[in-house]
Amino acid sequence: MTIRTDLDLTDAAAFVRHDAHEFWREVRMSRPVYWHDGNPGFWVVARHADVLACYADAASLSSARGTVLDVLLNGGDSAGGKMLAVTDRPRHRELRNLMLRAFSPRVLGAVESGVRARASRLVARVARRGTFDFATEVAEHIPMNTICDLLSIPEADREKLLRWNKLALSSEDAEADPLDSLEARNEIVGYFMDLARQRRRDPGDDVVSMIATARVGEGPLTLEEVALNCYSLVLGGDESSRVSAICAVKTLAEHPEQWRALRAGSAGIDGAVEEVLRWATPARHFARTATRDLEIGGRHVRAGDIVTLWNTSANNDEEVFDRPRRFDLTRSPNKHLSFGHGPHFCVGAFLGRAELRALLAALVETVDEIEVCGPPTPIYSTFLNGYSSLPVAFR
Ligand code: HEM
Repeated sequence: MTIRTDLDLTDAAAFVRHDAHEFWREVRMSRPVYWHDGNPGFWVVARHADVLACYADAASLSSARGTVLDVLLNGGDSAGGKMLAVTDRPRHRELRNLMLRAFSPRVLGAVESGVRARASRLVARVARRGTFDFATEVAEHIPMNTICDLLSIPEADREKLLRWNKLALSSEDAEADPLDSLEARNEIVGYFMDLARQRRRDPGDDVVSMIATARVGEGPLTLEEVALNCYSLVLGGDESSRVSAICAVKTLAEHPEQWRALRAGSAGIDGAVEEVLRWATPARHFARTATRDLEIGGRHVRAGDIVTLWNTSANNDEEVFDRPRRFDLTRSPNKHLSFGHGPHFCVGAFLGRAELRALLAALVETVDEIEVCGPPTPIYSTFLNGYSSLPVAFR
């Protein structure tokens, strides 16, 4: 892997071929906010303090045109103003209050015990199997099933949702056709439109029914809005948790002394979850569009400019993290930005953490040693960071 000082942040393959951490270290030191050329170009924000301030300033930095660089460079997000993540205030607050009801302690208490049981079962199943793919045998079954339980998605539909979702955001192929991912997104929205129609007619005690029958502001959501907001739970809930779990196992195998500390109890599981989230940084960046002229890190940003906030860099900023490239399960404080910050802070953070906690607890209970048995397959994406396969053996 080579080190570059001029990484093209619009090229998914660049992140796989080059050591981005060295690149970001140089950026934080010499040009912490810079203009990335392109058509259109965009601002790159690299320091933790600046990224944090941008997340907090939702009035100057809008999410409504889209929050992923690829989408913004291709004309913007058609779900803007309808789906939580790509909606600004005041509508954002109304939608968020509705979605937070889906994540109330009453609902989540039941979901969390289900996650624990599922993680233990999955890990026990592979524990003495020899080499297996952790991604397909374990990691992909935890988040998707958790979200599907929350939404009461029939078992028979879950596999196709997972397949569409894998296609929708990222790719295992450097030359992937963007039309495939558009098609997959349309399939998911279409699926939820049908489900929303059905649950509106015959509501149950699940999150789809709750969103489909709620009054938000003036009245009920349109079927498309219901579908998009259900989709946003699948979208947000599946991939990032999946890649974090894969990263957890890979990184623990590469740092046996940390794994031993976790097993011995000298490193706690809650702290380990936070360090895994920082190390994994599943969403490399989130993006905004400036609503007015403003200063970021001393640079003049104009209304209409695209601004990208690089979590990968912020989570390794030496100003905030002591020896950031050291994987340390006892790191404290650990103010990583993997869940974002401010008004759009991840609504699924509790669930994401619970899933990782359940996985680590199941590993500690069942596994003595983790061995990586072959090269993992990297995901080609300028947005999602991680691997789609990981051959391992648990002993
Ligand atoms: C928002 C990361 C798990 C649903 C976000 C944001 C980040 C993030 C960085 C902020 C986006 C922005 O500021 O534009 C993650 C990571 C996860 C995770 C790293 C797991 C490790 C989940 C889960 C769910 C979920 C489990 C759903 C069950 C959402 C939604 C939003 C969001 C709906 C939009 C919130 C808003 O705009 O108000 N997530 N997420 N996420 N996440 Fe997550």
